[in-house]
Amino acid sequence: MSPTPRPEDRFSFGLWTVGWQAADPFGDATRPALDPWEYLGPLAAAGAWGVTFHDDDVVPFGTPEPERRSILRRFADAAREAGLVVEMVTTNTFAHPVFKDGALTANDRGVRRFGLRKLLRNVDLAAELGAQTFVMWGGREGAEYDGSKDAHAAFERYREGVDTLAGYVKEQGYDLRIALEPKPNEPRGDIFLPTVGHALGFIAELEHGDIVGVNPETGHEQMAGLNYTHGLAQALWAGKLFHVDLNGQRSIKYDQDLAFGHGDVLSAFFTVDLLENGFPGGGPTYDGPRHFDYKPSRTEGMPGIWESARANMESYLLARKARAFRADPEVQEAMEQAGVLELSRPTLGDGESTADLLADRSAFEDFAVDGAAQRHLGFVRLNQLAVRHLVG
Ligand code: GCO
Ligand code: MN
Ligand code: MN
Repeated sequence: MSPTPRPEDRFSFGLWTVGWQAADPFGDATRPALDPWEYLGPLAAAGAWGVTFHDDDVVPFGTPEPERRSILRRFADAAREAGLVVEMVTTNTFAHPVFKDGALTANDRGVRRFGLRKLLRNVDLAAELGAQTFVMWGGREGAEYDGSKDAHAAFERYREGVDTLAGYVKEQGYDLRIALEPKPNEPRGDIFLPTVGHALGFIAELEHGDIVGVNPETGHEQMAGLNYTHGLAQALWAGKLFHVDLNGQRSIKYDQDLAFGHGDVLSAFFTVDLLENGFPGGGPTYDGPRHFDYKPSRTEGMPGIWESARANMESYLLARKARAFRADPEVQEAMEQAGVLELSRPTLGDGESTADLLADRSAFEDFAVDGAAQRHLGFVRLNQLAVRHLVG
């Protein structure tokens, strides 16, 4: 029996995921397009609680204002009827050829001003629809050729752009936070802010960084060979995990956008473990939407859209066995042996100074180095218990 998603699971999907017609650089679309609102009923029926979208997913680029308003109204009404929450809105600053060299970091100043206006318009829309998060994926902010970009100027302009948006959010009094989405490459040869770590470093340089965080995507960190769960963990630790894009990726290659759990299953298990159970020794927890950013594969017909949407949620719910994993006495005992909880204890004693540490012979001169070196930590057994819980 597969577990059934419930609204309190807060599963949400980008309209561009189920709405993807599967055109790729090598071939034409394999599925017809529906109108944006036609996806909403089936999405809710599949068990989703929320929907997210780029402006251009709903309103074609360049649509005149009165028509844009009426299309958006129709979409918002359909979402309400389907019982779907619009929890996040994002902006397409990558598809139109005008953005071929980026939006906020394009060399062409006119393009930058145009991109910023498109973003500002969409911040208004996000607030109007009651979204809590405004995602910025700067897919075209980057370069193929190092000599084509003044990287220093690019970071200045990126900062200027994000600070302008964040400042505007504050000025308008919107209850909205911005989440930057890192990706190492594709469509650009190299994208600026390629990983969670780069994005966190960038946010620290912002004037309005207090309302700017990250939206890490599973596959994007894994494209860079990185540990997604560690990326989430560092963002959480920094108070910056505002949103997530869950999906599947099999190793370092093009962005596969597979369903969640169809990549590295054990990594998915520990992602769910972190999102559901938090850190073993306590700390900040994630309470945002469980948002999926995947693509129904090109081989799938229309039923495959909904089968694959359900696959994401089912994988997540199956990985929620991570709850039973944490509660299992054998696991607790293995964690004890592994010293997992020992790491929560500060290295220095309460009020201990560096001078005290230097004077403590037991910490160094008399420390039983050989004994500590020989301690059996049993990490492998602990991991095998995770495997047993997941696939057993
Ligand atoms: C990708 C990205 C996008 C973004 C989306 C939201 O690799 O294509 O993940 O899907 O998530 O543009 O801003
Ligand atoms: Mn992706
Ligand atoms: Mn994404």
